[in-house]
Amino acid sequence: MKFTYHNPTAIEFGEGKIYSITKYIDKSKRILVVYGGGSIKGNGVYDQVDGALEEYTWFEFSGVEPNPSIETMNKAIQIIKEKKIDFVLAVGGGSVIDGCKYLVSAALYDGDGWDLVDGTQQVKKAIDLGVILTLPATGSESNGGSVMTKKKTKEKRAFMSPHLYPKFAVLDPLTMITLDDRQLANGLVDAFVHTCEQYITYPNTSLVNDGYAETLLKGLVALADSWDRRSETVWQENLMWLANQALNGLIGAGVPQDWATHMIGHELTAFYGIDHARTLAIVQPQLLRVMQKEKAEKIALMGQNVFGIANDSEAVIVEIENIFKKVGISTNLNDYEIDNKVIANVTNGLKEKNMSTLGEKGEITLKKVTEILTKTIKNL
Ligand code: NZQ
Ligand code: ZN
Repeated sequence: MKFTYHNPTAIEFGEGKIYSITKYIDKSKRILVVYGGGSIKGNGVYDQVDGALEEYTWFEFSGVEPNPSIETMNKAIQIIKEKKIDFVLAVGGGSVIDGCKYLVSAALYDGDGWDLVDGTQQVKKAIDLGVILTLPATGSESNGGSVMTKKKTKEKRAFMSPHLYPKFAVLDPLTMITLDDRQLANGLVDAFVHTCEQYITYPNTSLVNDGYAETLLKGLVALADSWDRRSETVWQENLMWLANQALNGLIGAGVPQDWATHMIGHELTAFYGIDHARTLAIVQPQLLRVMQKEKAEKIALMGQNVFGIANDSEAVIVEIENIFKKVGISTNLNDYEIDNKVIANVTNGLKEKNMSTLGEKGEITLKKVTEILTKTIKNL
């Protein structure tokens, strides 16, 4: 085992915690509050931010779209420069947070911000960022990753840097009261697949990672099983903490990771606008079927320790599909708005990004991706 684990984001978890942001932001800071399409005005979050920032100088930027684009965020760079902003507060879900991670790094980069996203340049510095999370799903509130879209070329790419960790993240489950079933289901599925991407690979020697990943998986399965109680605070706060833990770097530290489901899924979102979590529900079960032999030992371990299934890979994959079905998400690509270029679009998109060999051992080739997608279309 050999790894560096450093997660510097302070977590403020629980009801009423939005006011705690004042502990982390110096009064001298000039703040830009960034949010999305306005959901924060319907659940009291905006008013609480307004109250907490009473003694601060602050400005706002709204309209960050789901699957945030550099085209939108570049407009906020202008405000940062004009108003001499030195602290950005992201208030929203993964899209607002990711958009702000781009913003805080691109604003200090002397060139086209997309260079940081496509890896031409590494992020070397960033403006301080804080987060108020309103949609548990991505884990972006306390990790160093961001996924940005360039609308012009229909590209969606992930980039990472230690400079992108927020200074703090407020996780108040009461912010979730306005979430609809679609977003709650998306959050549960995204967290589930994040855990799987760092678990269903090949055996490792750590006694920590698998055990904790299985705890998270069991928690998420329990939430899917109690889907009819999703409006209860106890259900929602558990989703909030589970989704955070699934992608804050801990369960992935020092162990092999896959991420092929995500890379294929990002292409589906880039071309067809399918919600991120839904792309994962489409791809993951068929990817596991195609890679069943290579992943046999971990699928068996998951069967035994999460579902109580002995030595039956197909039964484990069916259980995973059942989780997605229980929360109302279709695993059939035909149920989404696609066209007959879907396989070519996804494989070409991956190829252009030098992602022709995916997975923990680089064994998921474009031929395998074609096989996986063909199955998702025939999965009737
Ligand atoms: O824009 P507003 O009005 O806030 O509405 C949003 C949006 O329409 C709404 N919403 C958020 N909180 C709400 C709410 N509606 C009512 N009540 C609330 N409390 O939900 C809609 C979707 O929001 P979005 O932020 O797009 O969802 P999510 O958190 O699932 O983020 C998805 C994005 O994160 C990326 C995805 O690719 C996608 O672009 N990811 C980021 C990762 C990371 N940074 O680590 C990892 C993930 O695998 C993922 O790729
Ligand atoms: Zn995800």
